[in-house]
Amino acid sequence: MSLLDIHVLGSPILRMETRIVTDFTSELKDLAENMFETMRAAEGIGLAAPQVGREERLAVIEVDREKYVIVNPEVIVEEGEDRQEEGCLSIPDIHGEIDRARRVVVDAFDLDGVQRRIEAEGLLARCLLHEIDHLHGKLFIDYLSLLKRRAALGTWETLKAKYPGSIRHLASVGGSQVSPSGSGDM
Ligand code: NI
Repeated sequence: MSLLDIHVLGSPILRMETRIVTDFTSELKDLAENMFETMRAAEGIGLAAPQVGREERLAVIEVDREKYVIVNPEVIVEEGEDRQEEGCLSIPDIHGEIDRARRVVVDAFDLDGVQRRIEAEGLLARCLLHEIDHLHGKLFIDYLSLLKRRAALGTWETLKAKYPGSIRHLASVGGSQVSPSGSGDM
């Protein structure tokens, strides 16, 4: 396994549409494993392929110690409303309160090419919607009001200097335990 570099706001791939996965290869499993490792090293709870510079329609999630790999996901049902603070591993240190559905039903393939249905509420529902947005070039800041988006982008102007080439290079955690509190970014 290896840590992958995370693309941050400004990298064009974050705005691109992903490609539907048709071949469920061992390379795809390796990618998912490396994405889990990268997500944990960054103390996140979700990570989508474009965030590591890949075009596959695939994301990984770990919420409440449950791991999910979603390939070619589709939102079948969205119900209710929930407003919570949200952040993204590709826009470090920027957060915003975002309205999302409270409950979702998502159909997605697993790494063996088997279609599965995920019924989720609360944080898992939010994370699923956030990652599926990533797979279609959408970021959480897109939902902010014009004023709040301007403020966030203004802050980002000063933060982005930390990420030359729009790349966030993670230091190896060396097998140490990541704190369960984490950043909660996705
Ligand atoms: Ni994100």
